[in-house]
Amino acid sequence: GIDLWIDIVAFEAELATARTLLPEKRRPHLRRALDLYRCDLLSSDPYLDWANPVRQRLREARRRAVLELAELDRVAGNPGATIPSLERLLEVDCTDEGVLRTAMRAMALSGQPDEAIRWYQRGVDALRMELEGEPEDETRALADQIGAMVPAPALVLPAAIAIRRQARIPAPPNTLIGRSREVERLQDLLLDRTVRLVTVTGAGGVGKTRLAQEAARQVSSDFSDGVCFVALATVRDPAMVLPAIARALGIAESSAHDPAELIEAALQEADLLLLLDNLEQVLDAAPAISALLEGCERLTILATSREPLRLRAEHEWPLSPLSVPDAPGFSAPHIIERFEAVELFLRRARAVDPAFALTRENAGTVAGICR
Ligand SMILES: Nc1ncnc2c1ncn2[C@@H]1O[C@H](COP(=O)(O)OP(=O)(O)O)[C@@H](O)[C@H]1O
Ligand SMILES: [Mg+2]
Repeated sequence: GIDLWIDIVAFEAELATARTLLPEKRRPHLRRALDLYRCDLLSSDPYLDWANPVRQRLREARRRAVLELAELDRVAGNPGATIPSLERLLEVDCTDEGVLRTAMRAMALSGQPDEAIRWYQRGVDALRMELEGEPEDETRALADQIGAMVPAPALVLPAAIAIRRQARIPAPPNTLIGRSREVERLQDLLLDRTVRLVTVTGAGGVGKTRLAQEAARQVSSDFSDGVCFVALATVRDPAMVLPAIARALGIAESSAHDPAELIEAALQEADLLLLLDNLEQVLDAAPAISALLEGCERLTILATSREPLRLRAEHEWPLSPLSVPDAPGFSAPHIIERFEAVELFLRRARAVDPAFALTRENAGTVAGICR
């Protein structure tokens, strides 16, 4: 009994001292008083009538002291210092909104907005369950304000999210004919990191895929996560473009997340060139591709398509045919064989018939085909 009494006397004496001082001098006294307040007076025996008013008086004095100290700590630039005392009060009554707001502010100011929101949620739940009440407008507004500070929970991704990290461009079937200037210019564009999307456009068979693959191969070592080739020639449904990209990246399908989410998460930090080949049949996927570029800061996309995607970020890159003997008079074999288109024709013909040769007789026809 004697020890207890001395605690109370000391507690009240510290508070009385604090009241005589200027606010900036009060903090150590308030803190000492709160250290002395270990538990409510005679809490083991709550039905002692004489103790009730005293217990109530001390509780209120302690509450006022915590709130005052919180304010002084905040002004002193140390808003986190009172959090343990505030939490002890909330453990007794988490629906005390004056304490709750002070605690939420202290937590938010000391970099723990998520902790503030947890206590708010606990308070709201208790208010509803125990008192069938709702939080005051001021408390709710504070929670909204702090809620805006809490970062969105990170997407929890399956382990298979890691992307494959090697160049995956199909090997060239033969040597490239001509196109050295085109490869070089395309390369420059891809290495310009302000360029996010390049679309090589042109008629079917003009060599878009071949050129894009060549350029991608040349720059693959400049992207630390390499190049990923996505063949879209057989994809007819624009909604299947992202799943095809995810598959090419080696990202496992997941019922919990849509492909856009998975790809964005996987490519968040990735320094990667994505080669989307033959996009012309799925141009309606343009908005999804645009969103992907926005979500993945270091992603560059090289597309091939008969038509451009018509996105703001797009650099359209029209590809002209290989050089052709375009004047009808060109018919001498030694002249037309210098044209790249003829060279390609001859290579194809020889793949079927190794003995195929340009002659005076067939040269005019060959030039006509190449045109
Ligand atoms: N410059 C070139 N050198 C060698 N072969 C080429 C060249 N350009 C295109 N080809 C070949 O011609 C065919 C059609 O080219 P491709 O790139 O698929 O055209 P597109 O994608 O424009 O439809 C492919 O077999 C390709 O390997
Ligand atoms: Mg193609």
